[in-house]
Amino acid sequence: MRSLSDADILHALRKKEENRFLNDSIDLFSGYRTGHMNPYAFNEPQTSSDPVRGGEHWGRFVNTSRDYYLISEEAQLIQSLATEIGKILPKNALCVDLGPGEEKAVITKTFPILTGMSSPSGYVAVDVNNKFIHNASALVQDKLQIESSGILADFFEETLSIAARSPKVMVLFGGLLCNLGRGKASALLELSNNLKKLRKHAQAGDYLVITQDINQNQTTLDAAYNHPDLARYIMTLTHRIKRDLPTRDFNPDHFEFYSEWDAEEHVQVLGARAKTLSTFQIADHAFAVRKDKKIPLVNCYKFPAEFFLSACRSAGFNAVQTFHGTSDRIILHVLKAT
Ligand SMILES: C[S@@+](CC[C@H](N)C(=O)[O-])C[C@H]1O[C@@H](n2cnc3c(N)ncnc32)[C@H](O)[C@@H]1O
Repeated sequence: MRSLSDADILHALRKKEENRFLNDSIDLFSGYRTGHMNPYAFNEPQTSSDPVRGGEHWGRFVNTSRDYYLISEEAQLIQSLATEIGKILPKNALCVDLGPGEEKAVITKTFPILTGMSSPSGYVAVDVNNKFIHNASALVQDKLQIESSGILADFFEETLSIAARSPKVMVLFGGLLCNLGRGKASALLELSNNLKKLRKHAQAGDYLVITQDINQNQTTLDAAYNHPDLARYIMTLTHRIKRDLPTRDFNPDHFEFYSEWDAEEHVQVLGARAKTLSTFQIADHAFAVRKDKKIPLVNCYKFPAEFFLSACRSAGFNAVQTFHGTSDRIILHVLKAT
């Protein structure tokens, strides 16, 4: 039997994502779930005039924003603690990078962890983006001389071939787990469910190293999450609905970006506000969105550390140590699978 090539896997992943995008968009405008659209925002254009270019807007946002503290403070924290973290982690462990992302993230966050670890036995990059896994594994192999490979997979949905290997240290940076939808289940339950999916890749005694933003300060949050490139990034979701889904009368120009902090729920909501009454159809679902209605597209949860750790415990990860940086908004948990 012919084995699957990267192109086959990419094709299958795309098909699955297209179906999920349709269902998630219908759920969104039905109000059944909101704030769950982050997986579709890192999108790519198909032509030179295509407004669906979230990846580009995001890249410009993180490079130009002076107030988006998350990435720089996370990297500083990891770099300053790498030796201490390494002392906790087992010798000869396999490092599994869940969503390595761009080269800069690998160099500033993954490299310090790997160099702090005692004789890592290897490095595996797992991502839905083919370019990211190839770049990350090549970088680690070339610059750190650690045996490296990549797995093109959705780590929430698929079983990973490395699950049985132990000892293992999984790392997840960039705050992905706190971009949660809000629906019938509470956000904390959704977080716990996502952590349970990651727990399946681990054996008892394996580790998960993960960062978290616990900032509750509305002023600094509003500054961080109000930027024209971030607005463009978020609003590509409306253009992607128009481009990729079977719609009638759906007009992205009827919506504008908004960003607001919900202190009670510990969430910064990024969304689309209707500038006018908008009536449209997605597949066979008809919608009428009234003027000024806010549609949360992406939720950025900032749970207090204790909330986050209770979700970890219920998913089968116990806290070994939590590290606080100098600013006290980005923290790092070293968790052990029970
Ligand atoms: C927020 S970025 C973080 C990147 C990097 N670790 C950092 O700290 O900047 C999330 C990364 O995870 C990948 N990703 C998101 N969801 C994923 C999933 N379900 N399975 C595999 N990779 C995923 C994205 O392609 C991206 O590389």
